[in-house]
Amino acid sequence: MPSSFHPRSVVSALAATTSVASSTLRQRFPGLSLISAGQLPLAALAALFEAAFSGYVVPVRQNAALLAARVRSEQIDLEHSRIALRDGVPCALCLLARRGDTMRIAAMGVVPAARGAGLGRLLLDEAIAVAREQRAARLLLEVIASNGVARRLYERAGFRARRRLFGWTREPFTPQAEVALRRTHCIELARALGADHTLEWPWQLAPASVASGFAWMSTYAIDDKAYAWIDDRARDRLSLGHLFVAPHVRGAGHARRLLVTLQAHYPGRAWTIPPLVPEELGSAVLGALGFARGALEQVEMELALA
Ligand SMILES: CC(C)(COP(=O)(O)OP(=O)(O)OC[C@H]1O[C@@H](n2cnc3c(N)ncnc32)[C@H](O)[C@@H]1OP(=O)(O)O)[C@@H](O)C(=O)NCCC(=O)NCCS
Repeated sequence: MPSSFHPRSVVSALAATTSVASSTLRQRFPGLSLISAGQLPLAALAALFEAAFSGYVVPVRQNAALLAARVRSEQIDLEHSRIALRDGVPCALCLLARRGDTMRIAAMGVVPAARGAGLGRLLLDEAIAVAREQRAARLLLEVIASNGVARRLYERAGFRARRRLFGWTREPFTPQAEVALRRTHCIELARALGADHTLEWPWQLAPASVASGFAWMSTYAIDDKAYAWIDDRARDRLSLGHLFVAPHVRGAGHARRLLVTLQAHYPGRAWTIPPLVPEELGSAVLGALGFARGALEQVEMELALA
């Protein structure tokens, strides 16, 4: 467990904050209090995050710098996010993000020793109460499809599946063709995405996420027609965050040309796409471009609050 995980000195001075009736909290969970995540130093919050996701479907590494980047790109609202303390020690978290009238559970986790005692449900009820207080119209989240405990928890609280999100992979290939690639800034891609009203992007692919996105992402374009948003930090692979073609020039081979030219630029690298691509978007195009579905699948869920 990370050494910064027991910030007792910090925590002892913190004021309890809760939307759940405090008498309910005292009766059902003696020794438990809820505080705003904004009251913890970011390094302590990151340490709790990592501990709360131990044994997760995929390994989760977290530190203050990574978490700060997520807070920025996902618009996580630390003030309205909650930490559970048991006898003053952080043991669970629920991070809430906000854009307009939509809020999203950006992370939810309970440290292994405290799981199965009702804390997850308590934090979820608290998040729903906070979202209502904040007059959000709906609450969104994504959950890995094979995470049965979390899915059932969300379903019992009233969340309904909206759509499935898939990841994709592709072996390296030998490039066949070239076009002139333009290196650009993520803000141009964000604008192009924002101008396409045909689709509501998953949270992490939405224009707001791209515009305030991670500094390590690179954006390439063919004219103002096609864009790729990639993470090229790994030596053996490229992680593709977006492959976007403006609606009026779709079906003209731009996605394929962009992919082929990028492969020539980064020879020998395999491709991965994180499990964020809506089913209705990816299947035809990515299949035609030689990608295969990855093993991980997410479910995007929604709770209407209005
Ligand atoms: C998912 C998670 C947050 C749930 O928190 P928790 O405190 O263990 O959950 P609770 O004790 O409130 O239980 C919620 C429900 O799940 C059930 N449950 C809990 N653990 C279970 C398990 N191991 N097997 C089967 N059911 C389980 C409970 O019985 C309860 O059902 P009920 O409402 O019908 O009584 C927690 O397991 C966790 O942190 N997992 C790792 C991180 C993670 O997966 N986060 C979700 C990301 S989307």
